[in-house]
Amino acid sequence: MLILGIESSCDETGVALVQCEGPGMPRLRAHALHSQIDMHQAYGGVVPELASRDHIRRLLPLTDTVLREAGCTLQALHLVAYTRGPGLAGALLVGAGLACALAAALELPVLGIHHLEGHLLSPFLSADPPVFPFIALLVSGGHTQLMRVDGVGRYALLGETLDDAAGEAFDKSAKLLGLPYPGGPALARLAQRGDPLAFKLPRPLLHSGDLDFSFAGLKTAVLTQARKLGDAPSDQARADLAASTQAAIVEVLVKKSLAALGASGLNRLVVAGGVGANTALRAQLNAECAHRGVRVHYPELSLCTDNGAMIAMAAALRLQAGVAQGARDYAFDVRPRWPLVEGGGGLS
Ligand code: KG4
Ligand code: ZN
Repeated sequence: MLILGIESSCDETGVALVQCEGPGMPRLRAHALHSQIDMHQAYGGVVPELASRDHIRRLLPLTDTVLREAGCTLQALHLVAYTRGPGLAGALLVGAGLACALAAALELPVLGIHHLEGHLLSPFLSADPPVFPFIALLVSGGHTQLMRVDGVGRYALLGETLDDAAGEAFDKSAKLLGLPYPGGPALARLAQRGDPLAFKLPRPLLHSGDLDFSFAGLKTAVLTQARKLGDAPSDQARADLAASTQAAIVEVLVKKSLAALGASGLNRLVVAGGVGANTALRAQLNAECAHRGVRVHYPELSLCTDNGAMIAMAAALRLQAGVAQGARDYAFDVRPRWPLVEGGGGLS
């Protein structure tokens, strides 16, 4: 069974082909990605209308590319999967529209996928896939969540951010340091030259006794420190503040992940979402987890941020687990706001 996956929820256009046969692990056949970073950089952030228009321009050429790479034609497809939400409404509609039009023309079923489930299951695309059950730390630009994952579609929310997401904390702090969009990777690069102990920054909710997060206060603290540095801070001072900010975010993410592992008794952690690409986070998690005999799984670095492969993979795993089936009504109702866990159970 060959699945075409389409991702267009924000500022990356992703298309991929995943092959799924029987109970074996689905396999990535090809994937192609176009990042809109250059286009949005002039505005300091994602401009939703420009994002939608660019998805329109990119999706069909990217679909041609993956078919060519895999050496097959549209007629070889068995199902078209697309990101149904959450994300930018217009951007989601472009992917959903293309998926449903293609599927209708080819008389194929379609399956709408939750973007966060795509991230959550993306480590299954790696050479060393996890096994259930595990604790998942989902850290993206819009979400910071700890979950217990017992199987495909069996997710229990353990804690989440009460305000800003970890990625947002990176992005907003980067902006305060005068770094270009997207701020997370830029701040991480600057932090390499800085001293993480140079500035004393808060670790919000570190000792709250629960698994929730809060990053809004940290951003305010970074703002205060950035103001103290004045209009023309030295390169070293900026690098020190970047390193101190990263250290604060990473410490909270690591400690809360360890607390979730401890409380659940599980010894497997999956880290997914764009912030999962952060090398300081990976280094600390690896060190702490090795110490405790916990296995940590990450997606391939290139599949940490948004991509079509994770959408095709999530569709393959949902079909394989029997928790979803393709539809043929081609009613592409996108869900810009869509919790992964609704009413305390699995995915709706
Ligand atoms: O998962 P993702 O691509 O998109 C969402 O679904 O939100 O995550 C994007 C987020 C952004 O906030 C970006 O700054 C952050 O991930 N990010 C990083 C790094 N790479 C991406 N944050 C810190 N360090 C990185 N290396
Ligand atoms: Zn994402």
